[in-house]
Amino acid sequence: MADFSLQVNGSERKVNVSPETPLLWVLRDTLQLTGTKFGCGAGLCGACTVHVEGAAVRSCSTPVSQVAGKSILTIEGLGAKGPHPLQQAWIAEDVPQCGYCQSGQIMQAAALLAKTPSPSEAQIVEAMTGNICRCGTYDRIRKAIQRAANGGAR
Ligand code: FES
Ligand code: FES
Repeated sequence: MADFSLQVNGSERKVNVSPETPLLWVLRDTLQLTGTKFGCGAGLCGACTVHVEGAAVRSCSTPVSQVAGKSILTIEGLGAKGPHPLQQAWIAEDVPQCGYCQSGQIMQAAALLAKTPSPSEAQIVEAMTGNICRCGTYDRIRKAIQRAANGGAR
């Protein structure tokens, strides 16, 4: 066990965990931030996506020791000051089915829009290709990202 200080959703959080503990479990089990989901545990599905220093990362495959002192944003922090444009677009397009993959999808999309505010359809498809949805909501995800990029209109 070791002490780590993380910047999570704008607040400093101190945790005492094994250095190899995946960030996902620190978020979910230690910090009770359960919006980030466990899917495959192997970096293959995107359900666990959060931002580290603004980049989308798979928290299931990221040891906590790698993110000590870094800025981490989860789905809880994304909408902390009111719904993010993507969250509004997700509602407008009625995107989720079971919902399980959706926080990871939104975090992946948020990283895309932060870097590329008006992505082409090809850029959206490329950015989102590693985020799996067993319910097959891909078309609605793409439409919602386009809606958010266009300021709410499509
Ligand atoms: S749970 Fe992390 S990529 Fe699937
Ligand atoms: S909405 Fe069910 S897995 Fe994506």
